[in-house]
Amino acid sequence: MSSFRTSLHWPVQSRNENALSSVNFDRVARPYRWLEYMSFGPWLERCRNAQLAQLTGARHALLLGDGDGRFLARLLKANPLLRADVVDSSHSMLCILDRRVRRCGPQFVQRICLHHADALEWSPEGSYDLIVSHFFLDCFFPGQLEQFFNRVLPHALPGAQWVISEFAIPRNAVAAYLARGIISLLYRAFGLLTGLRVRALPDYETALLRRGLVLTHNRRSLAGLLCSQVWTLPTPPQK
Ligand SMILES: C[S@@+](CC[C@H](N)C(=O)[O-])C[C@H]1O[C@@H](n2cnc3c(N)ncnc32)[C@H](O)[C@@H]1O
Repeated sequence: MSSFRTSLHWPVQSRNENALSSVNFDRVARPYRWLEYMSFGPWLERCRNAQLAQLTGARHALLLGDGDGRFLARLLKANPLLRADVVDSSHSMLCILDRRVRRCGPQFVQRICLHHADALEWSPEGSYDLIVSHFFLDCFFPGQLEQFFNRVLPHALPGAQWVISEFAIPRNAVAAYLARGIISLLYRAFGLLTGLRVRALPDYETALLRRGLVLTHNRRSLAGLLCSQVWTLPTPPQK
């Protein structure tokens, strides 16, 4: 049976950068999927699933803010040996994810452990060969991401893969102009609906490069507005 381990520590710091207590995706959890299809059609779904075929070797995954669990269900089906920890601060998102996985069958439920927690406060206990964050890193300020990477990366095994989906600024000037408008609109909408205060995409790439991760796959879609990446933690040379 999946377990909800509640490890939230409210209230969290009240400085603007750390004021996550006001961020709550519960209100958007039910309509989330339909809002997504109405705004971006199948593109976000395609972006999430773009690297799926390469993840069949993983055995222990950490899914960060997986939302309603569409990706988790696909991942568990694609890789029958995989077990997964899922962390999300939205109770409603986790409930929808839990129901979705239950519909896949009891053997699927036994392979997941759900953690209702603020990912910035949560301390991983396991070691992971796969970390997944789809449209999650953009919920944080750069300083928060630095702390978060420091907390999570010691739990990534050598050779581990981190799959990331994010919005991005295209290289083409016209597309970049349009993308900035779309991203700003999205941030304002999520700000109103969830209390999110972040208003700009964080530079997570520099932070990952500084920690020694290597960008091994990078696929852009929707005229460069979306990116699907795999970052790999190098294996130390054998002595
Ligand atoms: C923009 S949604 C993305 C959902 C899904 N991964 C997708 O691809 O659509 C962000 C998700 O991250 C969760 N989240 C946001 N901030 C969080 C935090 N500090 N700790 C844990 N989960 C968080 C939200 O509850 C939500 O499920």
